Amino acid sequence: MNSGEIIISVKELTKVYDIGEVKVHALRGVNMNIQDGEFVAIMGHSGSGKSTLMNIIGCLDLPTSGEYLLDGVNVKEMSKDQLARLRNRKIGFVFQTFNLLARTSALENVELPLLYNPDLQAKERKEKAMNALEMVGLVDWQHHYPNQLSGGQQQRIAIARSLVNDPVIILADEPTGNLDTRTSFEVMEIFQELNSRGITIALVTHEADISQFAARNVIFRDGRIIKEKLVTGIKNARVELEALPKEEDIFDSNLSI
Ligand SMILES: Nc1ncnc2c1ncn2[C@@H]1O[C@H](COP(=O)(O)OP(=O)(O)OP(=O)(O)O)[C@@H](O)[C@H]1O
Ligand SMILES: [Mg+2]
Repeated sequence: MNSGEIIISVKELTKVYDIGEVKVHALRGVNMNIQDGEFVAIMGHSGSGKSTLMNIIGCLDLPTSGEYLLDGVNVKEMSKDQLARLRNRKIGFVFQTFNLLARTSALENVELPLLYNPDLQAKERKEKAMNALEMVGLVDWQHHYPNQLSGGQQQRIAIARSLVNDPVIILADEPTGNLDTRTSFEVMEIFQELNSRGITIALVTHEADISQFAARNVIFRDGRIIKEKLVTGIKNARVELEALPKEEDIFDSNLSI
């Protein structure tokens, strides 16, 4: 689903990290648009600037120069408070290391972004969080703590948390980096499902097979986009999951060695 409306627009974006005597040019003039309903995978070698771009798009950091419009709003013109609100209401984040609060139940973790919204009552918060848990198939796990959940389940909780505010875009930085193939595909199945419901997703990945679940690939090198392509024959995560060897089969073949 893709309405054609541009929700992320960056122009000639640069980012220089000034660490003492050294200046690191993390972004060297990036131009990129993301349309409403798109599913984009951002790829490139380590250090090429992917996370730097995600942090700027996510309003966690500001560019050194260039322009960034989020949903038509020029981010440069916002105060710190406005930025924080924009970030909380418009962006959902998913990280490689899940970033869940340890001594907090799955449900409470998902409710967290809503605590910043004073207009919401506890009942509404819970309702929204339960809806988000439902979308990732983990309603039955709402009372579990992160250490009682598998890596894949923790990431699904993190995805539910990213969803709970109805963001305009979900930014996922290497969301499958800590997961095995099957669990990665399960996470991609959720992203594809969310995207089919109209949620825009930008995902960073090192893995070529993961990038094929997105509709567009953008490839970075040394702080620049060097290549962009539409994915022909986008892979369906559910189909790929079914094609993976079953655990029992792997076990059997190991035993027979
Ligand atoms: N906070 C920071 N302070 C100084 N330099 C930084 C900072 N964050 C990133 N850099 C540098 O900016 C460049 C781009 O880093 P970035 O994290 O965006 O790369 P990446 O493409 O996400 O890499 P990876 O695939 O390893 O996550 C690198 O040279 C990195 O060392
Ligand atoms: Mg990174």
